[in-house]
Amino acid sequence: MTVLTSETPRRLGVAPEPGTLDAAERMSVDELRALQLERLRWSLRHAYDNVPHYRRAFDDAGVHPDDCRELADLARFPTTSKADLRENYPFGMFAVPQEQVRRVHASSGTTGRPTVVGYTERDIDTWATVMARSIRAAGGRPGDTLHNAYGYGLFTGGLGAHYGAEKLGCTVVPVSGGMSARQVQLITDFRPRVIMVTPSYMLALIDEFEKQGLDPRASSLEVGIFGAEPWTEQMRREMEDRLDIQAVDIYGLSEVMGPGVAQECVETKDGLHVWEDHFYPEVIDPATGEVLPEGEVGELVFTSLTKEAMPVVRYRTRDLTRLLPGTARPGMRRMEKVTGRTDDMIILRGVNLFPTQIEEVVLRTPGLSPHFGLELVSRGRLDHLVVRVEARPDCPAERRAVAAREVVEGVKDTVGSTVEVLVVDPETLPRSMGKLQRMVDSRAKR
Ligand code: DLL
Repeated sequence: MTVLTSETPRRLGVAPEPGTLDAAERMSVDELRALQLERLRWSLRHAYDNVPHYRRAFDDAGVHPDDCRELADLARFPTTSKADLRENYPFGMFAVPQEQVRRVHASSGTTGRPTVVGYTERDIDTWATVMARSIRAAGGRPGDTLHNAYGYGLFTGGLGAHYGAEKLGCTVVPVSGGMSARQVQLITDFRPRVIMVTPSYMLALIDEFEKQGLDPRASSLEVGIFGAEPWTEQMRREMEDRLDIQAVDIYGLSEVMGPGVAQECVETKDGLHVWEDHFYPEVIDPATGEVLPEGEVGELVFTSLTKEAMPVVRYRTRDLTRLLPGTARPGMRRMEKVTGRTDDMIILRGVNLFPTQIEEVVLRTPGLSPHFGLELVSRGRLDHLVVRVEARPDCPAERRAVAAREVVEGVKDTVGSTVEVLVVDPETLPRSMGKLQRMVDSRAKR
């Protein structure tokens, strides 16, 4: 097993032919800003006229859609939260009559009511357009066979990727999640060039290849488009090395559309270009709500610019990132890889910690696999974080204790907290079939 370090050079892919880019991808910043202002004014008016929640919220804040004369005026409008969507369950945030809604999706709703989102025919077409653009930016091309292992159903991953891949001109294999042995067989037999799947489930599939005695590096796959959950640069190297592919990040959320809100370009792999002709990003201070300047980390907020069925105005994603200038698509800003959500933050004896910080340390520790789980427990009056991580199958027994110590020290050095680390046997921790739930909170209620 090659040990990859942060110094390992990044292997970059080939950019699409300039002639194949959408007009919006070729716009200058000024052209894009003009288009955004026009669309933003429409979207605010559409929300205000057709969704009682927005009319009330704008009136309470003393703002009117006509007050938006430049893009910066958006900061005067109220933000929208998941709670607002829940309060208007199921269809109260829709801005068009029900007969114009072609499809709904919903979040799993682990706490309370699910949030429901809706799409008109045009919304579905817009979504397919940005998704096709994303697959192309990732290195996918018309004519490619694409293995789609994002879950189909109320989750936006499966159908969102599916329509985009068809629109680009790919042959889609709509496998959905689960049944790993069959997934490996289909990849072997159908020879897809592109795979779309959560990074945690990709790891389970790589293991399955090895279990069947197949070399994952010899598979037909050349491009992996991974998202729906946070993953790190270390994880990118792990997957690129074990599969011999280009691994790129895709971001999105149901409330704003689904997958395809932002996409990393394979030729730069330097964060995700936000498809700003449809989704207007801001980053705010999560505590004060103040808009932060480009380059500062805060909570990502989106306003839809073209959505008909369910416009969102300043929707608070809870995802933490920062905005950066465009590179591979110079007109469109990038968002840095999302490595934490305000909800995922563990406050361990006063120190803030994200699961991705543990992932980074685990993956750079020789002998350890990328499969790990976190459990918060209370002992006496103190909270402890227990990290269970699987040894790699070839990890010698004597290496395990040393590796555990290295993770404890690594976390202490980078985050400042002391965690407990248990190195367990290979294949003993639960595997993901889609989005992985890494954290279990077993603390006693005080
Ligand atoms: O996860 C949509 C999606 C499907 C994106 C397939 C990419 C691929 P939701 O279920 O509504 O939608 O969850 C949205 O997932 O707010 C983030 O916290 C997280 N998330 C999505 N993509 C990424 C990513 C889909 N690339 C929530 N990196 C978001 C980190 C991500 N987190």
